[in-house]
Amino acid sequence: MDYNIALIKGDGIGPEVASGACEVLQAIGEKFGHTFSFAEYLAGGIAIDETGEPLPQETLEGCKASDSVLFGAIGGLKWDNLPGHLRPEAALLGLRAALGLYSNIRPVRLYRALKDASPLRSDIVSAGFDIVIVRELTGGIYFGERGRRQSAENGEEAFDTECYSEREVERIARVAFEAALKRSCRVTSVDKANVLESSRLWREVVHRVAKDYPQVELVDMLVDNAAMQLVRNPAQFDVLVTSNMFGDILSDEASQITGSIGMLPSSSLGNTTVGFYEPIHGSAPDIAGQNIANPIACILSAAMMLRYSFDLSKEADCIEQAVEAVLEKGCRTVDIASGSESAPLSTAAMTQEIISALR
Ligand code: IPM
Ligand code: MG
Repeated sequence: MDYNIALIKGDGIGPEVASGACEVLQAIGEKFGHTFSFAEYLAGGIAIDETGEPLPQETLEGCKASDSVLFGAIGGLKWDNLPGHLRPEAALLGLRAALGLYSNIRPVRLYRALKDASPLRSDIVSAGFDIVIVRELTGGIYFGERGRRQSAENGEEAFDTECYSEREVERIARVAFEAALKRSCRVTSVDKANVLESSRLWREVVHRVAKDYPQVELVDMLVDNAAMQLVRNPAQFDVLVTSNMFGDILSDEASQITGSIGMLPSSSLGNTTVGFYEPIHGSAPDIAGQNIANPIACILSAAMMLRYSFDLSKEADCIEQAVEAVLEKGCRTVDIASGSESAPLSTAAMTQEIISALR
């Protein structure tokens, strides 16, 4: 089969890690007899520099017409003082909204070989953990009404609004319960229902959906407690479903306990198979261009594309096993090198190790 992939390398370490993921896809294509064609598009800071806007129309159209999008990272100091709608991040938010990608899946697992890279005590991580964060991606405070206004007493004020509809909560809850059915049948729904009305609706709707999944155990957890439980006992979680902003914050926290944010992939899907695949890390401008970034998050994102958008699970397994094998063998980029005796690998060298392993 031929697959058309829209490739957005972006800013900072984006181009380095995305190139690694493309090479891995080429190698998988050769091994299993598929053709992956890449059409490159600009988005983020580089698009601002070259076209004056973070999300050019051509990029949007190209992504819509593709079979799926592979994305590196965007953003950087240079563009930090632009108004909100012209910042690099506006490209990501615009693509998520335009493609209707409401369901963001972020698998968080501790590789056996990386137990020493986790900042958690060994008695906490000895049993390992394997969590799937299901983050609502096109609603909530990210997309609610926002603005500034003058108040007579207090001067300038700014506001952002958290708003969720029944429909939005129901569809993301279903994604979480369906995912749980294929795993350990446990869903933790994270909210702030002791304070926020939007969270009280969230909780009601999640419980209504739960009635359709009697096999799945549902636990409600307040977000502050969830932040604590993730470092106290991460093994208690199976599927964790939450709002856009809580999911953003908790997934960064969860990534750290796996050893490095450079390890975590993600998929974003809506009602079609056209998905958006990106590492959860940012553009890391401090290490950009040095060929030291960890390409694994982007490579594992490509594997998720094969599994969820192209229904190529054998091929996805092959990439995931290759990653596991190189980690077992002791290959480390600098972010996960703590406790390892050998010198850390470059981005390109790690990519080549993974390609040799999958061949
Ligand atoms: C993420 C990122 C984005 C988000 C930023 C870059 C807009 O942090 O994908 O987690 O907040 O969603
Ligand atoms: Mg984030």
